[in-house]
Amino acid sequence: MDGKFITFEGLDGSGKTTVINNVIEYLKEKNKFDNFVITREPGGNRISEAIREIILNQEFTEMDKRTEALLYAAARRQHLIETVFPALESGKYVMSDRYVDSSLVYQGAGREIGMDKIDEINQFATNGLEPDLTIYFDIEPQIGLERIQKNRQNEVNRLDQEKLDFYKRVHQGYLKLAKENPQRIKTIDATQSIDKVTEDVLNVLLPFID
Ligand SMILES: Nc1ncnc2c1ncn2[C@@H]1O[C@H](COP(=O)(O)OP(=O)(O)O)[C@@H](O)[C@H]1O
Ligand SMILES: [Mg+2]
Repeated sequence: MDGKFITFEGLDGSGKTTVINNVIEYLKEKNKFDNFVITREPGGNRISEAIREIILNQEFTEMDKRTEALLYAAARRQHLIETVFPALESGKYVMSDRYVDSSLVYQGAGREIGMDKIDEINQFATNGLEPDLTIYFDIEPQIGLERIQKNRQNEVNRLDQEKLDFYKRVHQGYLKLAKENPQRIKTIDATQSIDKVTEDVLNVLLPFID
């Protein structure tokens, strides 16, 4: 495939969506945006969206964690088939907000299924497609979650310990992946200001796309 596949990873509240929007703005200003396809899982296709509704349905309290992991992998595959593969084949830069690494750390480390097990099912789901570049937004879970809660007045303004422990395992999972894949995964300090994080991301991204 001719294009390049770039993924954005990091805990909830690490600033991915905010900074991706800044990057889009920058690329548009520089008239470079035509070569890009911006996407996010589940990818806006009807099958992946339907799968996501099943995953997020609060009534399905009996959902087994491996079932959940398989559903994420299934939604990912359909997103690849409908959006990512065609864009890469036509030579585009595809930037995705989250990809396999999210499953490795959330289901593998967070839910303690094991990152190796999650890797197996995702190899099958993706035909082994790995990102050419992954930009990882590193932040302590507490800070990310506080950012999110600040902007959601209606939700309970307290972090329960179980949730925090889950996110700490997810964070450790990301650190492990970054350490094991230094060529692919570039770590950004996401505790900095939005402008500085955007600048750091562009410094990694621009040499890669030119
Ligand atoms: N560097 C930053 N410093 C302070 N607040 C931030 C920063 N980046 C993002 N935020 C805020 O944190 C919240 C979550 O950001 P968001 O981009 O949605 O994160 P993500 O997509 O990684 O979950 C938003 O309210 C956003 O305005
Ligand atoms: Mg987001």
